[in-house]
Amino acid sequence: MTITALTGISQLVTNDPGVETPAAGHHAPLGVITDAAVVFDDTRVLWRGPERELPEGFADAVVDVGGRSVMPGFVDSHAHLAFAGDRADEFAARMAGQSYSAGGIRSTVANTRAASDEQLAANVRRLRDEALAQGTTTLESKSGYGLSVLDERRSLEVIGRFTAESTFLGAHVVPPEFADRPDDYVSLVAGEMLDACAPHAKWIDVFCDRGAFDVDAARTILTAGIAAGLAPRIHAGQLEQGGGIQLAVELGAASADHVTYASDADIEALASSSTVATLLPGAEFSTRARYPDARRFLDAGVTVALAADCNPGSSYTTSIPFCIAVAVRDMLMTPGEAVWAATAGGAAALRRTDVGSLRVGAAPDLLVLDAPSYLHLAYRPGVPLVRSVWRGGAVVSSRAS
Ligand code: NIG
Ligand code: FE
Repeated sequence: MTITALTGISQLVTNDPGVETPAAGHHAPLGVITDAAVVFDDTRVLWRGPERELPEGFADAVVDVGGRSVMPGFVDSHAHLAFAGDRADEFAARMAGQSYSAGGIRSTVANTRAASDEQLAANVRRLRDEALAQGTTTLESKSGYGLSVLDERRSLEVIGRFTAESTFLGAHVVPPEFADRPDDYVSLVAGEMLDACAPHAKWIDVFCDRGAFDVDAARTILTAGIAAGLAPRIHAGQLEQGGGIQLAVELGAASADHVTYASDADIEALASSSTVATLLPGAEFSTRARYPDARRFLDAGVTVALAADCNPGSSYTTSIPFCIAVAVRDMLMTPGEAVWAATAGGAAALRRTDVGSLRVGAAPDLLVLDAPSYLHLAYRPGVPLVRSVWRGGAVVSSRAS
């Protein structure tokens, strides 16, 4: 086992509340250390601090990053990667004035059902690799384009080859064969489909919104999922205000996602709970919809996460740097708040304490940015600033020559 030290770090984002005097002028929760070093082995961070305090002879290998910044890998807590085909034409129609509706999901369902397991796996692998190259070191993925017992189960089996953060989303929309008996579909999801899928998933999710499932159906499905050992999360408030956010709080969900339409009571409920609000600006960008009001959540003390929501319908991006730039420019988040939300916030949305920070003992998942500061993630939009990605003590993705 090699012990590696990264030195020559202009700014180290630790997200460590234990960093006693974070560098002045930065969002305090980022725990920024300037002129820093970080030491890790293949499983955990061993030391971080000012480079001048680095104990001599501690590391077997020293890598000087040359005045670049280093930060925790992104934790992307919301993606839908088990699908086939794309919906570029639907996107083009939206950009020509049509509005987004949940019904588009059904066209991806037809393609997904027709795909082999290996085709689905190739798609998940391709998008996972794309995300990793852009700095995502922990990635959740949902099922939800199979919508039959067999196709949901095999979607989750495929997802499980790539991530432990797998989510059963049988309740994405009502599939066409149940169009005239939606209650029977809810019973199927909460019954036979859940039984088949629960062994292959960690989480259960419901799309609780216009054109998908109402609060009563969501409560039935999530409650059954909890009884089957899954932990709840929800899609709520993407298209209209409803009871989904308060249901998430009532059930102790790890996160309520989208939350573009949220009442004051929704925000109060979130603020007095451990449920994270996960904002997905890629979806508003790609559906040309209004952005969630991030300031309302932050100012009320809600824990906010940012995620990419990669899916072929509403947000076909794996890029967290893109989401950070949009959240800063158009959702009035500060760069520091956005970077925290995409790392520590994502970890909170997945109830993970081992990722999303570089405190001593955390997983050594970290990024070297081709920039002197994390601020550049928002300041230089569209520029591929993630130079190298470290996981398990080794570089797993690199743009460096
Ligand atoms: O998170 N909102 C529901 N699910 C996805 C969209 C799925 C689709 O349009 O294919 C989302 O935005
Ligand atoms: Fe989603």
